[in-house]
Amino acid sequence: MNIILLGAPGAGKGTQAKRLTSERDMVQLSTGDMLRQSAESGSQIGIDAKALMDKGELVSDAVVVDIISRRIDQPDCAKGFALDGFPRTLEQAAALDVMLDEKNKSLDAVVEMRVDDVEMVARIVGRFTCANCGEGYHDRFKTPAVEGVCDVCGVSDFQRRADDNANTVTTRLMAYYKKTSPLIGYYFAKGKLVTVDGMGTIDEVTKSISNVLDQVDGSAKSQSRGLLGSIFG
Ligand code: AP5
Ligand code: MG
Ligand code: ZN
Repeated sequence: MNIILLGAPGAGKGTQAKRLTSERDMVQLSTGDMLRQSAESGSQIGIDAKALMDKGELVSDAVVVDIISRRIDQPDCAKGFALDGFPRTLEQAAALDVMLDEKNKSLDAVVEMRVDDVEMVARIVGRFTCANCGEGYHDRFKTPAVEGVCDVCGVSDFQRRADDNANTVTTRLMAYYKKTSPLIGYYFAKGKLVTVDGMGTIDEVTKSISNVLDQVDGSAKSQSRGLLGSIFG
């Protein structure tokens, strides 16, 4: 199954992508994570991207389209993927359509996670992650069971993103409303959009998305059975 998780900064795309991909044997494709890794590796593309990311501005379409196209070609993506943070502009969405067509792949669903603006800011400003395994936490909404120790790997080393501050959040939200939110209409018109309430607890949102994906999966299977039935029946 190939899906897009669509939502504003802090909506919970990364949190849910990690959960869904472990439950459903899919790969999480986060352009934000890929760009941060590229910056850490010291590549010029990564360093240029980091300058924009730290200001809360979008990286160029050409750079992210190229990164995603190469990544989708990796063998592990054959089992299915959840795009997290891509596409983010109508140009990227159009490039994704062409790319999937050329690679003989298709999109099963675009899951829009809807969250209030005030909540999004609170989620971003309180976020931190384990520097060792990448598990995500929050000062108020998801604290480690033992203070200062990662629940998953037991390491006591946490980090905060350079763009997770009150100044940058406004620019990131503005970029979302100006450039990314038109994708909601784009995918609705294509019959791919499903919207879930992202305001519940992390577990509640996972459940809502899982229910939606079960329905999408079920209807895809019954359609293909129907098609085979009409061919062979
Ligand atoms: P990216 O890394 O994608 O950041 P983003 O879109 O701003 O989204 P976030 O990662 O901040 O939020 P999220 O939705 O993943 O939320 P999370 O699950 O962590 O992009 C960063 C930058 O890279 C961009 O600004 C841009 O410059 C560049 N970039 C990336 N892709 C690009 C592209 N395609 N084109 C151009 N530029 C691109 O959750 C947030 C917090 O809330 C966590 O602490 C979590 O524990 C908590 N939380 C999650 N769910 C819940 C819940 N239900 N209840 C309570 N707390 C919750
Ligand atoms: Mg994220
Ligand atoms: Zn950890």
